[in-house]
Amino acid sequence: MAGALSSVGFLGAGKMAQALSRGFIKSGIIESTSILASAPQNTSVNLSLIKDLGVRTTTDNREVVRNSNTVFVSVKPHVVTSVLDEVAEDVNKDKLVVSIAAGISLKVLQSRLPASARVVRVMPNTPSLIREGCSVYSVGEHVVEGDGEAVDKLMSSVGSCAKVTEALVEPFLGISSSGVAFLFLAMEAMADGGVKMGIPRAMAYEFAAQTMIGAARMVKDLEQHPAQCKDDVCSPGGCTMAGVHVLEKAGFRGSLMDAVEAATKRAQELGKDQ
Ligand SMILES: NC(=O)c1ccc[n+]([C@@H]2O[C@H](COP(=O)([O-])OP(=O)(O)OC[C@H]3O[C@@H](n4cnc5c(N)ncnc54)[C@H](OP(=O)(O)O)[C@@H]3O)[C@@H](O)[C@H]2O)c1
Repeated sequence: MAGALSSVGFLGAGKMAQALSRGFIKSGIIESTSILASAPQNTSVNLSLIKDLGVRTTTDNREVVRNSNTVFVSVKPHVVTSVLDEVAEDVNKDKLVVSIAAGISLKVLQSRLPASARVVRVMPNTPSLIREGCSVYSVGEHVVEGDGEAVDKLMSSVGSCAKVTEALVEPFLGISSSGVAFLFLAMEAMADGGVKMGIPRAMAYEFAAQTMIGAARMVKDLEQHPAQCKDDVCSPGGCTMAGVHVLEKAGFRGSLMDAVEAATKRAQELGKDQ
């Protein structure tokens, strides 16, 4: 396991590679100088941002694979197969390939790499950068003993992590990877409501964010059902119930369920062309 975690590479140095690098470094699981990330052009803003974290950078994808025991495939889904074709020759039995790309199945990943390549899919989210992420992973058929544990250890260093069957990777994207955006939207809208009612904007954001943290912590730490927590603040004929009624009439819950479903389906579609 130590081998897999001794050097980490990122093919693609964008938002998710930066979030994971920052989280890994902060957790102390790996030193910044043991991480190597690539992007096609030296002028990439992403390369300079990831460099600021102390990560080594290159424009050569093959160099990333040659110098890393664990290689994250962190390019956009439509680029994954061409990047894998480029580096396939360097993926030997010592390499663990971890794809975070939405929609690209283990079968497709495996088909672009040598027959016995050790491949894992991970679905992370951006709060990994502050070590409050959550991710799931699903392992390919040629992983060896310790690979799943290595991925678990790495991803657990930046949040919670669970092993799932591959069919659930996209649904988890819907609830967690895309889900953060749905919550940011809700947070912004609540703050706007506060501003409309006269609260200064900075305080409105601060209180909307802390309200979300508090609500999430109650469900997680007290292991209470969210519906119970909601009922507890809805007194008969009260203010909160008046607001809940407005949300129910607007289809708030159905909209969130639809959003998770839409993100899941979009991710599944992205993989179909590969
Ligand atoms: N963002 C999320 O919240 C999130 C969550 C879960 C999973 N994911 C998955 O993570 C992957 C990356 O997403 P992202 O949001 O980090 O994307 P991004 O910010 O657009 O980053 C993509 C990176 O890939 C680089 N790149 C493009 N073509 C390349 C090539 N041929 N070889 C090497 N690098 C190349 C880009 O270079 P430049 O710097 O020059 O643009 C950029 O650094 C996607 O597959 C996505 O499905 C993302």
